Amino acid sequence: MAQAVSDVLKQHLIDPEVCIRCNTCEETCPVDAITHDNNNYVVDASKCNFCLDCISPCPTGSIDNWRVVNAAYSVDEQYSWSELPVQQDIAVQSANDETGEALDEEAAALIASAHQGTGGKPIAPASSAKPSVNLFNRGRPALAIVTGNYRLTAENGDNDVRHIILDFGDTRFPVLEGQSIGILPPGVDAQGQPHRMRLYSIASPRHGERPNTNNLALTVKREPHGVCSNYVCDLKKGDKVQVAGPFGATFLMPNDSAANIVMICTGTGSAPFRGFTEWRRRMTPDAVGRMVLFFGARRPEDLPYFGPLQKVPDSLLAKFFAYSRVPDAPKIYVQDRMREQADMLAPLMQSDKTHIYVCGLRGMEQGVDAALDDICRGSGVKWSELRERMRGDGRYHVETY
Ligand code: A2P
Repeated sequence: MAQAVSDVLKQHLIDPEVCIRCNTCEETCPVDAITHDNNNYVVDASKCNFCLDCISPCPTGSIDNWRVVNAAYSVDEQYSWSELPVQQDIAVQSANDETGEALDEEAAALIASAHQGTGGKPIAPASSAKPSVNLFNRGRPALAIVTGNYRLTAENGDNDVRHIILDFGDTRFPVLEGQSIGILPPGVDAQGQPHRMRLYSIASPRHGERPNTNNLALTVKREPHGVCSNYVCDLKKGDKVQVAGPFGATFLMPNDSAANIVMICTGTGSAPFRGFTEWRRRMTPDAVGRMVLFFGARRPEDLPYFGPLQKVPDSLLAKFFAYSRVPDAPKIYVQDRMREQADMLAPLMQSDKTHIYVCGLRGMEQGVDAALDDICRGSGVKWSELRERMRGDGRYHVETY
């Protein structure tokens, strides 16, 4: 049901221009309110119960759209859209007309939230820079030129992870560390539909691979049957690529040199943390805030940026590597390394200056959470309560896939 105040309804909608049709929302919705056709993913207003479960898993934020309406848009209407309808003032007006009075507070709040999104989604750090989002989309992509494609993992292994550099030339494509871009692979699928856009985290700091260059880097792993990852990993210098985005408004760095930043990742989940580390190294190398990295990979030769990471001084970045497939050695995961470092992490976690970021395989989420729970318990802190407080402050961020 759409949420109602007087005759005004708040309706949950999905932005067709930004949605990458990844199906995450439909899989997540507990009441089957989200459905799709060949064109769009849509929300059935007669079923949506405003539980907000679908909001945080959406990688693009396209799910977090709301309109205040007099009558809900039907599913069929939404299927036909190529963009969201603008917020009609008439919905507000008719509520006023109905009562002859000023719009009541609850309705006003609904309308404000129709413009602002929900309160249930992750929050950016209070001090982070304001991100630009959704400047380019499938209908109006930015064109980037490939200026580099380097293998980051051992040549002889089956784990092909690449560092791709995209240059935007004269096109303004402003990004922040922690944001993602969408790559539009050329061609169509077996049904004749354009291939789906894929999102990749930006691995460089906001002002480029080298300061003041209009480029950015990606860390991309070749997936055995991945249309987009194979397209990207095979790109040659000089190739042109269609790009959408930037996306993401919450997994951002605090703009505070006193902030402690604890980063936990596996594999290509390291991409945003390369951007974080480089930005701090370039701008505030003597920051009082600490940076700590827990990084999991199969073996050292599978760890993206292993060589360059070794050169980052420990005073800037404390590094803890966890290898799971080194012959004749025990399987170690990031959460094991975190437990080993409980004496260092426990006091950090109790500081209001500490931000925690988790990025990588979805499977690690539970293990990392359990490790943080153990570490907190050891110092008499309830992690479930601290986690909610940190989330509310925009200091706890999880991006897994
Ligand atoms: P594993 O050897 O058990 O697969 P990948 O290279 O495939 O992206 O994986 C990155 C690292 O994340 C690997 O070392 C992998 O270990 C590890 N990993 C897999 N599952 C988990 C998990 N549940 N928690 C933490 N790390 C994990």
